[in-house]
Amino acid sequence: MAVDEGKSKIELDRLRQIYYIRNQQTRGLEEFVALEEFSLSIREGTFVAIVGPSGCGKSTLLDIIAGLTRSKGGGSIQIDGRQVTGPALDRGFIMQGYALFPWRTVQRNIEYGLEVKGVSRKERGEIARKFIKLVELEGFEDRYPNELSGGMRQRVAIARALAYDPEVLLMDEPFAAVDAQTRETMQDELLKIQSKTNKTVIFVTHSIEEAVLLADRVVVMTPRPGRIKQIVDVTLPRPRTNADMRASADYDVIVRRIWELLHDAEIPGAVDGAATGGDIADEIVPSTIL
Ligand SMILES: Nc1ncnc2c1ncn2[C@@H]1O[C@H](COP(=O)(O)OP(=O)(O)O)[C@@H](O)[C@H]1O
Ligand SMILES: [Mg+2]
Repeated sequence: MAVDEGKSKIELDRLRQIYYIRNQQTRGLEEFVALEEFSLSIREGTFVAIVGPSGCGKSTLLDIIAGLTRSKGGGSIQIDGRQVTGPALDRGFIMQGYALFPWRTVQRNIEYGLEVKGVSRKERGEIARKFIKLVELEGFEDRYPNELSGGMRQRVAIARALAYDPEVLLMDEPFAAVDAQTRETMQDELLKIQSKTNKTVIFVTHSIEEAVLLADRVVVMTPRPGRIKQIVDVTLPRPRTNADMRASADYDVIVRRIWELLHDAEIPGAVDGAATGGDIADEIVPSTIL
């Protein structure tokens, strides 16, 4: 197992995230803690999945690691020993709500990171074609994002992130909008890519099955404010495929264990003052996971 070998790639140290939201009664701003004391050390080549109830701070966590959101409330993130201060090409991300470039075609979206890296036009074209094939979008190269379905756009985003070969991949429910069969294909492809390229991956999902299929370690989070409840090591052999897992009793045991961890998670009964204030409260749906 690669879990406890190799050098540390990502160090998250007591990350905390506060959002300021307006209290409708007092009209003042109140602190809303979305992430609390989140510390995690991830070794190079490890695939970490993150599961937790809706609203527990998973997307917040990934946005901070990507450098898209600045952490307010303390803590630090280091990648290869360097402090993260903003987005950079060492991390590829596939985020909810982080859109494709609407003015670029599928092909040119996928080539974007390669352009930034200074890869020649010819080579960019070759690499883009390889990833277009991987995400099953042949024939759609010249379409613009608004001419694609949601699932297709998501696949372009995946190809765009993979094409420039970042060492770290941050993926926020990347297969949620993709149909079941394509999802299985893409999960199997992601497993292959990761085993070939030794990428370090942080993958948020609401599917326990998907987490166990893909990951070396599954981080189970508590309801808001998100903390780590437990980390479950997935001691299943690799290479893995969907077909292998369907036949594996050990897989079922680990899925079951994580299910139990999530379902006995304490759900806060009373929502605190900060949360009852703004529109944000409407989004808090504790424990809607699965
Ligand atoms: N920009 C923001 N401003 C205020 N509150 C936010 C913001 N983004 C997220 N939140 C709140 O922080 C909590 C965690 O959100 P999020 O990270 O999206 O959770 P998850 O991805 O686990 O569902 C939620 O209660 C959400 O409403
Ligand atoms: Mg989310």
